[in-house]
Amino acid sequence: MPISFTTVSDLQTALNADRLAGKKIGFVPTMGALHEGHLSLVKSAAAGNDIVVCSIFVNPTQFNNAADLEKYPRMPDADIHLLKTAGCDYAFLPSVNEIYPNGKILLDIHFGDLEKVMEGEFRPGHFKGMATVVNRLFEIVTPDNAYFGKKDFQQLAIVKNMVKQLGLSVNVIGCETLREEDGLAMSSRNMLLTAAQRKAAPMIYKARRTAQEFIPFHTVEAVKELVTRYIQQSPLLKVEYFEIVNPETLQPIQDWNECKEVQGCIAVLTEGPRLIDNITYATI
Ligand code: PAJ
Repeated sequence: MPISFTTVSDLQTALNADRLAGKKIGFVPTMGALHEGHLSLVKSAAAGNDIVVCSIFVNPTQFNNAADLEKYPRMPDADIHLLKTAGCDYAFLPSVNEIYPNGKILLDIHFGDLEKVMEGEFRPGHFKGMATVVNRLFEIVTPDNAYFGKKDFQQLAIVKNMVKQLGLSVNVIGCETLREEDGLAMSSRNMLLTAAQRKAAPMIYKARRTAQEFIPFHTVEAVKELVTRYIQQSPLLKVEYFEIVNPETLQPIQDWNECKEVQGCIAVLTEGPRLIDNITYATI
């Protein structure tokens, strides 16, 4: 079993001893309700470091919707059990007070155009809260390497940008998205889907994968429309946005020849959870 910590000082005592012994520390921040996608990050961390820390903390400052925060699944005992199988050494499950001892003060940081689009546009304040907690966790753990999923493509870009802006010494590593057999990206929120919503959800991946075949024959706008229309054939799914963006700047492209590779990023509303996913398209 990984050793569980709930206080910053206990975790830091253990980590200080490890660091003195010359051990390399890998870190995987999560909000729990762990699935194979999270565990793949932990496995990557175990392969590249001597000690793996995984945090489980449902961060209130990144939720812009109180109901979403309340409904977010919490199952710490099952999580700790799963972490054992993936090679995690330390599980860190802090209280809100431990993370925000002086109240929920947000980091004073801006991400320019990176935060104006997609999740930044539709979830105001989300990235500021996310960056605040990731920075706080980096400060506590001071990892050599930190692992993030490409499933949250914009989050990964913003974390990398934050590390650059603040001059942090952590190395941020992006890991591939794990999917269910039917293509649905694994997510803690999937367990909140009804059976009917769960059955419809793989269309999100199928439609966007098929879009690769449209690219040589259609404009960017037309592909966006085709994908949106296809997904919305299901009355259970409503596309909040589907953007095709430059993977570096995250700005929507107008024309395929702007980049060799582009990222198709989507958010879909159900009557239950909101689902996000993204996919890489080759344009030539
Ligand atoms: P959470 O949604 O729990 O995700 C934790 C990490 O797991 C993130 O880096 C996310 O991109 C990655 N992940 C989620 N689903 C994945 C999948 N199917 N395949 C691979 N990786 C996947 O993202 C957060 O928590 C929070 O915003 C956090 C960074 C912990 C800050 O609170």
